[in-house]
Amino acid sequence: MDGRADTLAGLPPASAFAARVAQAGDQRLAQGVAALVAQLARLIAEAQLTRDDMRAILAFLTEVGETCSEQRQEWVLLADTLGLTSAVEAQMAQRPAGATPNTLPGPFYRPDAPMRADGESISLDAKGGPLTLRAEVVDLDGQPVPGAQVEVWQANADGLYENQEPDQQPEYNLRGLYRTDAAGRVTIRTVRPAGYPIPADGPVGRLMARLGIALDRPAHIHVRITAPGFQRLTTHVFDASDPAIDRDPLFAVHPALLATFDPAPKGGFTCAFRFVLARARPGADAQ
Ligand code: BEZ
Ligand code: FE
Repeated sequence: MDGRADTLAGLPPASAFAARVAQAGDQRLAQGVAALVAQLARLIAEAQLTRDDMRAILAFLTEVGETCSEQRQEWVLLADTLGLTSAVEAQMAQRPAGATPNTLPGPFYRPDAPMRADGESISLDAKGGPLTLRAEVVDLDGQPVPGAQVEVWQANADGLYENQEPDQQPEYNLRGLYRTDAAGRVTIRTVRPAGYPIPADGPVGRLMARLGIALDRPAHIHVRITAPGFQRLTTHVFDASDPAIDRDPLFAVHPALLATFDPAPKGGFTCAFRFVLARARPGADAQ
């Protein structure tokens, strides 16, 4: 028996694991995996995990993997519904007080939305209650940010994105790219989105149902704003009146992201929303 094996023998597996990877070439990976193992070992002790529990957990994770396909990423959905994606977003995109919070983009984003003129509608099938979103983009001092690229994407009045039903909605329906004017403003014509449930027909949906967690997301418009010299902002504008506003299964709702969709005098709805950008941090990426 060599001396090293002698030292590790009898240690709790998590400690032995950490010792074994101490000399690994990639220390960030080694420390990350060792920390995960240590946390899981604590969990096993605290929750008094049994063999049956372990079998059930492994069967669930196997099913999550088997549900993934070109069209579906159940692992991402699991990370989203456990709040892990939002936690990483919050950590990566820490912004000064007063800046609009960054949130996850979700799976329905397409990077190639067409450019729209100010005031042009992104509703290509004119289905749904008209909504005018008057967006204003400012910096932390309230000064306008002209020439900012404002990208929007949203579900329709049935809660479905264009890429979820390509045979029924025109391509790029409810997607568009705008640019702010000299006053940092842009007018986006669209239809009022409906909330929608995240996929319920897979292992993540079934787990959430067993846990009594509602799957419906409150109605929202996704917005991504890019402007030179500022951190890129990816966020949501939420309909504050949606009954699910307090129970977003993805934990993306923040008080600063609540909007009111007010009835407009000539019909439809109007919403004014101010986005506050944070300056880019020297040396950091733009996100
Ligand atoms: C969304 O808001 O588009 C979304 C985000 C994560 C999972 C499902 C939908
Ligand atoms: Fe969405």
